Amino acid sequence: MDSMETGLVDGRGRRVSYLRLSVTDRCNLACRYCVRENPQFIPHQEILRFEEMQRLVFLAQQLGISKVRLTGGEPLVRKGCIDFVQRLLAVRPALDVRLTTNGSMLAPRLASLALAGFRRVNVSLDTLNAKKFRAITGRDLLGAVLESIHEALRLGVRVKINAVGLRGVNDDELESFLRVAAEHSLDVRFIELMPIGPCTTWTKEHLWPAADILERAKKLAELRPLDRRGPSSGPADVYEIAGGKGRFGVIAPLTDHFCGLCNRLRVTADGRLRTCLFSERTFDLKRALRHPKLGDRSVQRIMQGALKTKPMGSELMAARGPGGYCDSRMSAIGG
Ligand code: 5AD
Repeated sequence: MDSMETGLVDGRGRRVSYLRLSVTDRCNLACRYCVRENPQFIPHQEILRFEEMQRLVFLAQQLGISKVRLTGGEPLVRKGCIDFVQRLLAVRPALDVRLTTNGSMLAPRLASLALAGFRRVNVSLDTLNAKKFRAITGRDLLGAVLESIHEALRLGVRVKINAVGLRGVNDDELESFLRVAAEHSLDVRFIELMPIGPCTTWTKEHLWPAADILERAKKLAELRPLDRRGPSSGPADVYEIAGGKGRFGVIAPLTDHFCGLCNRLRVTADGRLRTCLFSERTFDLKRALRHPKLGDRSVQRIMQGALKTKPMGSELMAARGPGGYCDSRMSAIGG
């Protein structure tokens, strides 16, 4: 296979080794910036079965993908998700399998995941205040999320908390988040709100630029720069907190885009490959996966062909001009 030795390289010379796979577009929360009022979910028969997802992951791994993150919606609302993670870990121990979750259903499932070799989880959490949690997500589940975080730490599973920085919503909580990162051995990262999907109407008012977040954070804690973002450290600018256990970081997809370093592919729960978060172009892998006459190689060819067209999201956004947005549903793409 041509790319086995070289790995996957896109049309602009970027090495692609990371697959984000959305296992469902459904979620038990309804974060205001993420979900529309009456979301149209992907019909069940269109959702890839876990067997199909497993085949897809293995084919991607053969091409050079070494890291797979399961996302959603909320991946854990899909029955069988834990078994799927365990199977991937058991059959492909070399694969770095991670999970992005809202954490509300994770705690009781963590021990069996850890036992299977699961090591890293990203928890999406925008507030540490129970009332605000309810206002943002529509549910009273902050306690369950915090319990999951503690359980992960207890089991030695590394935790990254991802908070979307929302001006006027959680900008008064930076100090509390910094305290969490100082007191626990975990990462807290603030992400800029991206103009994707329903939050389009929100972005102007609520966008909190990463540089501002960082400036404020530096007044609240002594931050020492660690990794400058890069292929190994991902898109975050990460800082050590003096005297603390954990780390703090910011991710600036809008004000300081990092498309040149992008190493990702995304696949939606219905098997559409997306090469860029800001592009609405998709490549239908499901058709090839389900086609009686098309084999593994056809699926891989679609991936390789799609990669040749992988754009620079920042260029797409610039072309859309000020106020431009991407009318996709984040809950269907998986972040
Ligand atoms: N901008 C930035 N982050 C977002 N997320 C969802 N929608 C947006 C948006 N418009 C975050 C989630 C989660 C991650 C997968 O993406 O809160 O942390």
